[in-house]
This record gives sequence, structure tokens and C-alpha cells, in this order.
Amino acid sequence: MTQLNLLLPDARVVGDLEEGRDATVQALADLYAYPSPVPAQGWVRANVVSSLDGAATGPSGRSASVSNPTDRVVFSVMRGLADVILVGAGTARAERYRSASPKREFAERRAASDQLPAPALAVVTRSGHLPLPSLFAGPAPTCIITSASANVSALRNKFGSERVLVAGDEVVEPGLAVLQLAALGLRRILTEGGPTLLGPTVASGRLDELCLSWSPLMVAGTGPRVAHGLDGQLRLRPGHLLEADGALFGRWLVQRS
Ligand SMILES: NC(=O)c1ccc[n+]([C@@H]2O[C@H](COP(=O)([O-])OP(=O)(O)OC[C@H]3O[C@@H](n4cnc5c(N)ncnc54)[C@H](OP(=O)(O)O)[C@@H]3O)[C@@H](O)[C@H]2O)c1
Repeated sequence: MTQLNLLLPDARVVGDLEEGRDATVQALADLYAYPSPVPAQGWVRANVVSSLDGAATGPSGRSASVSNPTDRVVFSVMRGLADVILVGAGTARAERYRSASPKREFAERRAASDQLPAPALAVVTRSGHLPLPSLFAGPAPTCIITSASANVSALRNKFGSERVLVAGDEVVEPGLAVLQLAALGLRRILTEGGPTLLGPTVASGRLDELCLSWSPLMVAGTGPRVAHGLDGQLRLRPGHLLEADGALFGRWLVQRS
């Protein structure tokens, strides 16, 4: 039995992933629904997982070693709701990303919201070092977001000029990247990090919410935090807090002054 308990804002059982998986996934999709209508400039959700001692990766050097089974379900629910997954190339390489495929449980919801059957993928890179045919293999579109200082013409040759967006001069500025995605109609934006991309996203002030899973683990080691790099300060308030098997799942909304 993997019971999901809502602790905040009110206490109730959301469902059980073993005894009523479909209904529980739909209840999670309701809890994590994007605002409706989605703002024209897009809504940016970050989804990350951490150990209790704040590590974004454990002994394997990947997020799997700080994740947990319910986190994987919540992760897929968030993908099921998004128009586009925005990710840094380091994560795409380390986690061997592939373009998302349509999932039966979100088909009705996506059709009702005029969304593509699966979220698009937007990979942030200057190097273009993405030796992953799987990034471009699925039915959903994949784009490359880079900066003017990169070798843009080489990237256009490699990936196709229609796939390459330039958002920033020296490095990719997350705020500009989000504006470009929103202009393409990809307004429900889900960033899955990694830490190098999430740092400037926080600093840019362009994040709207953070979905943070805490696995009941401590891993010590030298793994990064979920965001690093540029300094930034966002104040957030809790939207909801869920618990399952000792893992906590928080949805935090950025407070605008
Ligand atoms: N716990 C979690 O929730 C979680 C989430 C995601 C990732 N991770 C873990 O984090 C690790 C990867 O971390 P990372 O910091 O290397 O990941 P990352 O942010 O995904 O990737 C860094 C790379 O992305 C590109 N990039 C990121 N921001 C950029 C910007 N503003 N402008 C231009 N390019 C930019 C660059 O790619 P190029 O080098 O190609 O130019 C850079 O080297 C992996 O071990 C992964 O498993 C954990």
C-alpha cells in the first residue's frame, strides 16, 4: 500500500497508488494543475528531488539515487500536464533524456486543454554536445536553446535551423528562453533543472513555483544542491504538502511583491 496523504492545506487521503492507481494519478493531476487560464507570458514550474541533507544526486551521480517510487509518479504527472520540459544539457546527458511519449492517463486532459499529446522538450546548451538520438526520436518536438556566443550556425547545421532558439548573449537567460517558449504557445513550462540551469532561473526571478520532493534519505557526499551558481532570492509560500512512505512532496508558489 502506498497511500498519499495531503498534509497541507487540509489533511485528507488523496489515494493509494497500489489499490487505486488511476484515480490517484488523476487526483495528483488535479493537485498539480497549472493555473487556468495560463498567463500569456507562461507559467514556470520547477520540479526537483532532494535528499534530506540537500543533495540533488547521491552515490550514482544521478537523481535516481535521491529519488523514491512516489517521486517517479509525481514526476510523470507533472510531465503529463506540461506543454514543454525545459532542461539543461548536463541533465539530458546524465539522465539520458528522450523525447516524451504520450501517456494514456493524460490524453483526455491534454485534448481538453488543446495540448499536444506529449510535452515538447527544450534543451539548453552552448556546446551542442548531445549525443542522444533519443532526444529527437519521439512524436513531440524537441528544440535547442542556446546563446549568441555559442557557435549558432554549427548548432543550426547539426540540429536544423528551425529547432534552434537563441535566448541571451553570453549564456542563455532563462527569462528570455521562457518568453520564446511562451511565444510558441508553450506556456505550461516545466523545468527539471539541473542545478546549473535552475540557479540562473531563480536569479532571473522568472520562476513561478517550485515542486520539491524530499526523499527520507541522507547521502552526504559531494552532490550539488538543486540550484547553484548565481545568487538569487525568491520568497515562496506553501501551496500543498503531500506525504507517502515518509517522502514529502511540496508545491511552493513564488510570492510576488
Ligand atoms: N535532483 C534533481 O531533481 C535533479 C534534477 C536535474 C538534474 N539532476 C542532476 O544534476 C546533474 C547535472 O547537473 P548540471 O548542473 O550539470 O545540469 P544542467 O543545468 O542540466 O546542465 C548544465 C549544462 O547545461 C547547459 N546550460 C545550463 N544552463 C545554461 C545557461 N544558462 N546557458 C547556457 N548553457 C546552459 C550547459 O550545457 P553545455 O555544456 O552543453 O553547453 C551546461 O554545461 C546530473 O547528475 C543530474 O542527475 C538532479
